[in-house]
Amino acid sequence: MAVTNGNTAVLFQQSGGVGVITINNPPVNTLAREVRLSIAQLIGIAQSDQSIKAIVICGSGRNFCGGADIREFNTPDRQVRPMTRHLMNIIEDSTKPVVAAIHGPTLGGGLELAMGCHYRIVDSGAQLGLPEVHRGVVPGAGGTQRLPRLVGFRKGLEMVTSGIPIDAATALEAGLVDKVVTDVDLVEIAIAYATKLVEQRAQPRRTSKIEIDVSVADGEAMVAEARTALEKAARGMQAPFRCLESVSNTLTMSFEDGWAREAEISEVAVASDESRSLVHAFFAERQTPKIPDIPADIARREIKKVAILGAGTMGGGIAMSFANAGMSVTVIEASQENLDRGLGRIEANYEATRKRGRLSDTDMADRMSCIQGAVDMAAVADADLVIEAVFEDMEVKKSVFGGLDRLAKDGAILATNTSTLDVDAIAAVTKRPEDVLGLHFFSPANVMTLLEIVRAEKTSPDIIATVLDLCKKIVKTGVVVGVCDGFVGNRMLAPYFRQADFLVEEGALPQDVDRVIESFGFRMGPFRVYDLAGLDISWAIEKRRAETRPADERFSPLLERICELDRYGQKTGAGWYAYEDGRKAVPDPLIETMLTDRSAEMGINRRGISDEEIMQRCVYSLINEGAKILEENLAIRSSDVDVIWLHGYGFPRWRGGPMFYADTVGLPDVVATLDRFHAEWGDKWAPTALLRELAEAGSTFKEWDKTRG
Ligand code: NAI
Repeated sequence: MAVTNGNTAVLFQQSGGVGVITINNPPVNTLAREVRLSIAQLIGIAQSDQSIKAIVICGSGRNFCGGADIREFNTPDRQVRPMTRHLMNIIEDSTKPVVAAIHGPTLGGGLELAMGCHYRIVDSGAQLGLPEVHRGVVPGAGGTQRLPRLVGFRKGLEMVTSGIPIDAATALEAGLVDKVVTDVDLVEIAIAYATKLVEQRAQPRRTSKIEIDVSVADGEAMVAEARTALEKAARGMQAPFRCLESVSNTLTMSFEDGWAREAEISEVAVASDESRSLVHAFFAERQTPKIPDIPADIARREIKKVAILGAGTMGGGIAMSFANAGMSVTVIEASQENLDRGLGRIEANYEATRKRGRLSDTDMADRMSCIQGAVDMAAVADADLVIEAVFEDMEVKKSVFGGLDRLAKDGAILATNTSTLDVDAIAAVTKRPEDVLGLHFFSPANVMTLLEIVRAEKTSPDIIATVLDLCKKIVKTGVVVGVCDGFVGNRMLAPYFRQADFLVEEGALPQDVDRVIESFGFRMGPFRVYDLAGLDISWAIEKRRAETRPADERFSPLLERICELDRYGQKTGAGWYAYEDGRKAVPDPLIETMLTDRSAEMGINRRGISDEEIMQRCVYSLINEGAKILEENLAIRSSDVDVIWLHGYGFPRWRGGPMFYADTVGLPDVVATLDRFHAEWGDKWAPTALLRELAEAGSTFKEWDKTRG
């Protein structure tokens, strides 16, 4: 039979009595509109063609089917019938047995398609799951109704609410698939399987007709247990609870009713800000390596050997990131004693992971063997990339870069991990500023995925492209930023913390601010962050900044007063909070007294501050500073700023990042609030020109990004 609809997104051929439908929609075989139409049409044709006795559905290329086309979300194409959820029923209703031949990642609508088929054969390398919850939605093509019927209620509930996929062997054990094959022609096996079904006169085996395996009472107990766990793990989100509701409907509703209700729940979820934000985050991350003025095919430098200067907190973590990727790395310290201490800390770090059962003995040995130590800077001579992570002191950095200029080989990339110093000034001490850039890792560097790639004035484009590629290897999310104090993330953090400080002077307590920010969705409020990071560190930065801070810029002395009591945060058992059992933050009356005294000293009548005001003053200060950064061309896109906040600062992913969050609030509303704050407090609240311009044009940061390439 010929290809239908004149397209090649779905192919059809016949092998004996078996009709083979191949999804051929690169790169991942999504169920785009024309794919759905073609499959439905071919199933229809196969019903009436007497020569066809059974059907195999398979995918060409890397996988069986990549599920719904995320680009169709919130577009009319998604509504074109058959929608994915109808398609699965059309397949299930086939009077001739349908066998799915599954390989590669088979997620979301891909698995729903497989579950609409009557039998499933799977390649041993496949992954199967319903990750919709990670995009803020609910499986909407029968997945919440069919999965628990196949794998059992408890397992179905867990898979749908967590979104975590399973491998082929687990799928076989769970009853999700009928056969696992390795190293064979999957489609041939599927055709043979289908032929055998015909010989055995096997009937279509419809998933929707399977009984749920638990009683209503037992199932409800499982739902209650899952809900309690989600209330902790998914605070503020709605999608996991929507998934829970839809799966739990299988306990009390017929397939048809549960399926209809799933569609309603799914529609609400698809239209939610939560889903729009998560989809935004997904695309924002894919956008960061695209740099408008750097050709995608620019020649990269080869990075085989890496050297790191300084084996302190950052140097050690950075070395582990490379060793974890199997790359050879030399750590260079100023003395043998420091080196031994640094290497010892790396080993202890791996050992802790090994003890927790998360690293095998051989993996630990392999990683340690990637790391060599040296005490002579000449050891940088054969490195393709050198990362400096010595003390945060301009004179020290300049002297180190002077040495690197002499000792590093031609073409080596010279990077500084400075968090506040001027990368242009550091580059200027070398005769090769084009080879210099900032690589701002976040602490702990072996854990945190964010890497700000600081493009200095003379940095050569090819090293930016090289480092962006390298990010994939060391599993970091690299975002290119410009040179300014604090780069993008920490620069935005400064006004956010200023507001937190002002709020406690005006009447709020640290626990009020933290509660509001945590219920907004941040993992930790600002005062808990202060205490965890160490108040002595913030104090040292403040003392240094005080030297250059403009005279009109007031700063709260509270930090200093707390530090003078030797309260440096969690590590000393007290900071903004007191700590019980070393970890549990509890409000401290002493801090409250200190705040009351401070307010009195400033002539402030402490007032009750609403949760809304606390949230807006902290979060909108981020938005305004982010907009200034965009205006100053220090980040390429607003979505890059979002990625920095999602990966480096625990901004809730389901809100998309600060700039996308501003879009969801509506820029005119954000500007009106900023104007109100400006009228009240002056200070730095005046909305930036870009923000006002976009608000007046009825535009968004997302739209503005399109003008940035
Ligand atoms: P650290 O004080 O823990 O480590 C610095 C190490 O450099 C020390 O072990 C010291 O012995 C060594 N060192 C000093 N001069 C040296 C030289 N000439 N040759 C070789 N080794 C030398 O400091 P940390 O926290 O690791 O910071 C390092 C850099 O990373 C700083 O520029 C800092 O601003 C930056 N950074 C720090 C972050 C943090 O959270 N700690 C986050 C991001 C960046």
